[in-house]
Amino acid sequence: MKIKNTNIIWHHANVSRADREALHAHKSVILWFTGLSGSGKSTLAHAVEDYLHKMGVSTYVLDGDNVRQGLCSDLGFTDSDRTENIRRIGELAKLMTEAGIITLTAFISPFISDRDIARKLVPSGDFLEIYCSCPIETCEQRDVKGLYKKARAGQIPLFTGIGSPYQVPENPELIVNTHEQTLSESVEHVIKLLVQRGLIKIVD
Ligand code: ADX
Repeated sequence: MKIKNTNIIWHHANVSRADREALHAHKSVILWFTGLSGSGKSTLAHAVEDYLHKMGVSTYVLDGDNVRQGLCSDLGFTDSDRTENIRRIGELAKLMTEAGIITLTAFISPFISDRDIARKLVPSGDFLEIYCSCPIETCEQRDVKGLYKKARAGQIPLFTGIGSPYQVPENPELIVNTHEQTLSESVEHVIKLLVQRGLIKIVD
Protein backbone atom coordinates (compact mmCIF):
# COMPACT_ATOMS: atom_id res chain seq x y z
CA MET A 1 0.00 0.00 0.00
CA LYS A 2 1.26 3.51 -0.86
CA ILE A 3 1.61 5.83 2.11
CA LYS A 4 0.56 9.37 1.19
CA ASN A 5 2.41 11.07 4.01
CA THR A 6 3.79 14.17 2.36
CA ASN A 7 3.90 17.16 4.71
CA ILE A 8 2.78 15.14 7.72
CA ILE A 9 4.81 15.69 10.87
CA TRP A 10 4.50 13.49 13.96
CA HIS A 11 3.12 15.38 16.97
CA HIS A 12 4.71 14.15 20.18
CA ALA A 13 2.31 13.75 23.11
CA ASN A 14 3.05 15.48 26.40
CA VAL A 15 1.96 12.35 28.25
CA SER A 16 4.25 9.42 27.48
CA ARG A 17 3.56 5.70 27.33
CA ALA A 18 5.56 5.37 30.56
CA ASP A 19 3.29 7.99 32.21
CA ARG A 20 0.21 6.05 31.13
CA GLU A 21 1.68 2.74 32.30
CA ALA A 22 2.47 4.36 35.65
CA LEU A 23 -1.14 5.57 35.91
CA HIS A 24 -2.42 2.06 35.19
CA ALA A 25 0.22 0.53 37.49
CA HIS A 26 1.15 -2.10 34.92
CA LYS A 27 2.99 -2.39 31.61
CA SER A 28 1.23 -2.50 28.28
CA VAL A 29 1.72 -5.31 25.78
CA ILE A 30 0.06 -6.98 22.82
CA LEU A 31 -1.15 -10.56 23.25
CA TRP A 32 -1.56 -11.76 19.68
CA PHE A 33 -3.73 -14.90 19.55
CA THR A 34 -3.55 -16.74 16.23
CA GLY A 35 -5.08 -19.99 15.02
CA LEU A 36 -7.78 -21.55 12.88
CA SER A 37 -11.41 -20.49 13.07
CA GLY A 38 -12.85 -22.43 16.01
CA SER A 39 -9.46 -22.96 17.68
CA GLY A 40 -10.53 -20.95 20.72
CA LYS A 41 -8.76 -17.62 20.14
CA SER A 42 -11.71 -15.40 21.06
CA THR A 43 -12.85 -17.58 23.94
CA LEU A 44 -9.34 -17.60 25.42
CA ALA A 45 -8.68 -13.90 24.79
CA HIS A 46 -11.95 -12.94 26.51
CA ALA A 47 -11.31 -15.31 29.43
CA VAL A 48 -7.81 -13.85 29.90
CA GLU A 49 -9.31 -10.36 29.73
CA ASP A 50 -11.84 -11.34 32.42
CA TYR A 51 -9.04 -12.55 34.66
CA LEU A 52 -6.92 -9.43 34.13
CA HIS A 53 -9.85 -7.05 34.51
CA LYS A 54 -10.66 -8.56 37.90
CA MET A 55 -7.03 -7.87 38.87
CA GLY A 56 -7.49 -4.19 37.97
CA VAL A 57 -5.59 -4.39 34.68
CA SER A 58 -6.70 -2.14 31.77
CA THR A 59 -7.41 -4.37 28.78
CA TYR A 60 -9.17 -4.48 25.44
CA VAL A 61 -9.95 -7.39 23.10
CA LEU A 62 -9.84 -6.80 19.35
CA ASP A 63 -11.84 -9.62 17.84
CA GLY A 64 -11.93 -10.58 14.13
CA ASP A 65 -15.68 -10.99 13.82
CA ASN A 66 -16.28 -7.64 15.59
CA VAL A 67 -13.60 -5.55 13.90
CA ARG A 68 -14.78 -6.82 10.52
CA GLN A 69 -18.15 -5.16 11.21
CA GLY A 70 -16.55 -1.73 11.59
CA LEU A 71 -12.93 -0.73 11.04
CA CYS A 72 -12.41 -3.53 8.51
CA SER A 73 -15.92 -3.85 7.06
CA ASP A 74 -14.56 -3.05 3.59
CA LEU A 75 -12.33 -6.16 3.62
CA GLY A 76 -13.04 -9.73 2.56
CA PHE A 77 -10.91 -12.88 2.74
CA THR A 78 -8.54 -12.74 -0.21
CA ASP A 79 -4.85 -12.93 0.76
CA SER A 80 -4.43 -9.18 0.21
CA ASP A 81 -7.55 -8.30 2.23
CA ARG A 82 -6.33 -10.47 5.10
CA THR A 83 -2.94 -8.75 4.91
CA GLU A 84 -4.63 -5.33 5.10
CA ASN A 85 -6.86 -6.55 7.94
CA ILE A 86 -3.82 -7.59 9.97
CA ARG A 87 -1.90 -4.43 9.06
CA ARG A 88 -4.72 -2.27 10.46
CA ILE A 89 -5.01 -4.38 13.59
CA GLY A 90 -1.25 -4.23 14.10
CA GLU A 91 -1.33 -0.43 13.85
CA LEU A 92 -4.35 -0.21 16.15
CA ALA A 93 -2.78 -2.53 18.70
CA LYS A 94 0.38 -0.38 18.56
CA LEU A 95 -1.66 2.73 19.42
CA MET A 96 -3.37 0.89 22.25
CA THR A 97 0.02 -0.15 23.59
CA GLU A 98 1.04 3.51 23.58
CA ALA A 99 -2.19 4.16 25.52
CA GLY A 100 -0.88 1.86 28.27
CA ILE A 101 -3.39 -0.92 27.74
CA ILE A 102 -2.92 -4.69 27.49
CA THR A 103 -4.39 -5.43 24.06
CA LEU A 104 -5.55 -8.93 23.20
CA THR A 105 -6.07 -9.61 19.49
CA ALA A 106 -8.05 -12.61 18.26
CA PHE A 107 -7.61 -12.91 14.50
CA ILE A 108 -6.88 -15.98 12.42
CA SER A 109 -3.93 -13.97 11.03
CA PRO A 110 -2.97 -16.93 8.82
CA PHE A 111 0.22 -15.58 7.26
CA ILE A 112 3.61 -15.59 9.00
CA SER A 113 4.74 -12.48 7.11
CA ASP A 114 1.68 -10.46 8.23
CA ARG A 115 2.15 -11.46 11.86
CA ASP A 116 5.84 -10.54 11.60
CA ILE A 117 4.95 -7.11 10.24
CA ALA A 118 2.62 -6.56 13.22
CA ARG A 119 5.35 -7.78 15.60
CA LYS A 120 7.90 -5.38 14.18
CA LEU A 121 5.64 -2.35 14.67
CA VAL A 122 6.38 -2.37 18.41
CA PRO A 123 9.59 -2.69 20.44
CA SER A 124 10.91 -6.20 21.01
CA GLY A 125 9.06 -7.90 23.87
CA ASP A 126 5.86 -5.90 23.39
CA PHE A 127 4.31 -8.48 21.07
CA LEU A 128 3.62 -11.92 22.47
CA GLU A 129 2.38 -14.40 19.88
CA ILE A 130 0.11 -17.07 21.32
CA TYR A 131 -0.68 -19.95 19.00
CA CYS A 132 -4.04 -21.58 19.71
CA SER A 133 -3.15 -25.02 18.42
CA CYS A 134 -6.08 -27.24 17.56
CA PRO A 135 -6.41 -29.86 14.79
CA ILE A 136 -8.70 -28.75 12.00
CA GLU A 137 -10.76 -31.90 12.56
CA THR A 138 -11.60 -30.69 16.07
CA CYS A 139 -12.36 -27.14 14.87
CA GLU A 140 -14.58 -28.66 12.24
CA GLN A 141 -16.36 -30.92 14.74
CA ARG A 142 -17.00 -27.91 17.00
CA ASP A 143 -18.12 -25.80 14.03
CA VAL A 144 -19.56 -23.24 16.44
CA LYS A 145 -20.60 -20.86 13.64
CA GLY A 146 -21.53 -23.53 11.09
CA LEU A 147 -18.92 -22.12 8.69
CA TYR A 148 -16.90 -25.34 8.14
CA LYS A 149 -20.08 -27.05 6.98
CA LYS A 150 -20.74 -24.20 4.55
CA ALA A 151 -17.11 -24.22 3.37
CA ARG A 152 -17.22 -28.00 2.72
CA ALA A 153 -20.40 -27.42 0.75
CA GLY A 154 -18.48 -24.95 -1.43
CA GLN A 155 -20.34 -21.91 -0.11
CA ILE A 156 -17.21 -20.21 1.34
CA PRO A 157 -14.47 -20.67 -1.28
CA LEU A 158 -11.60 -19.03 0.67
CA PHE A 159 -12.23 -20.55 4.07
CA THR A 160 -9.07 -20.91 6.17
CA GLY A 161 -7.86 -24.51 6.38
CA ILE A 162 -10.01 -25.56 3.41
CA GLY A 163 -9.66 -23.15 0.47
CA SER A 164 -7.07 -20.85 2.04
CA PRO A 165 -3.90 -21.72 3.99
CA TYR A 166 -2.99 -21.29 7.65
CA GLN A 167 0.74 -20.95 8.34
CA VAL A 168 1.63 -22.32 11.78
CA PRO A 169 3.83 -19.95 13.88
CA GLU A 170 7.50 -20.95 13.82
CA ASN A 171 8.55 -19.37 17.08
CA PRO A 172 5.57 -18.18 19.13
CA GLU A 173 6.03 -17.02 22.71
CA LEU A 174 3.39 -19.55 23.77
CA ILE A 175 1.53 -22.52 22.32
CA VAL A 176 -1.80 -23.33 23.88
CA ASN A 177 -3.23 -26.73 23.00
CA THR A 178 -6.87 -25.75 23.21
CA HIS A 179 -8.08 -29.26 22.35
CA GLU A 180 -6.22 -30.84 25.29
CA GLN A 181 -6.54 -28.22 28.03
CA THR A 182 -9.49 -26.78 29.86
CA LEU A 183 -10.14 -23.09 29.35
CA SER A 184 -8.93 -22.25 32.84
CA GLU A 185 -5.67 -24.20 32.25
CA SER A 186 -5.11 -22.20 29.06
CA VAL A 187 -5.82 -18.93 30.90
CA GLU A 188 -3.30 -19.98 33.56
CA HIS A 189 -0.60 -20.50 30.90
CA VAL A 190 -1.16 -17.04 29.45
CA ILE A 191 -1.15 -15.40 32.89
CA LYS A 192 2.06 -17.27 33.75
CA LEU A 193 3.67 -15.87 30.60
CA LEU A 194 2.71 -12.32 31.64
CA VAL A 195 4.12 -12.86 35.13
CA GLN A 196 7.36 -14.38 33.74
CA ARG A 197 7.80 -11.36 31.51
CA GLY A 198 7.35 -9.01 34.47
CA LEU A 199 4.24 -7.45 32.93
CA ILE A 200 1.90 -8.15 35.82
CA LYS A 201 2.37 -9.17 39.44
CA ILE A 202 0.15 -11.60 41.27
CA VAL A 203 -0.35 -10.34 44.81
CA ASP A 204 -1.59 -13.03 47.26
S1 ADX B 1 -8.10 -13.06 9.10
O1 ADX B 1 -7.73 -14.21 8.27
O2 ADX B 1 -8.20 -11.82 8.31
O3 ADX B 1 -7.23 -12.91 10.27
P1 ADX B 1 -10.35 -12.73 10.86
O4 ADX B 1 -9.83 -13.27 12.13
O5 ADX B 1 -10.37 -11.24 10.70
O6 ADX B 1 -9.56 -13.42 9.62
O7 ADX B 1 -11.83 -13.23 10.62
C1 ADX B 1 -12.11 -14.58 10.76
C2 ADX B 1 -13.58 -14.83 11.08
O8 ADX B 1 -14.38 -14.46 9.95
C3 ADX B 1 -13.82 -16.30 11.31
O9 ADX B 1 -13.81 -16.61 12.68
C4 ADX B 1 -15.18 -16.55 10.70
O10 ADX B 1 -16.19 -16.34 11.66
C5 ADX B 1 -15.34 -15.47 9.66
N1 ADX B 1 -15.09 -15.88 8.26
C6 ADX B 1 -15.92 -15.60 7.22
N2 ADX B 1 -15.40 -16.02 6.07
C7 ADX B 1 -14.19 -16.58 6.36
C8 ADX B 1 -13.16 -17.18 5.57
N3 ADX B 1 -13.27 -17.28 4.24
N4 ADX B 1 -12.06 -17.67 6.17
C9 ADX B 1 -11.95 -17.57 7.51
N5 ADX B 1 -12.87 -17.00 8.31
C10 ADX B 1 -13.99 -16.50 7.75
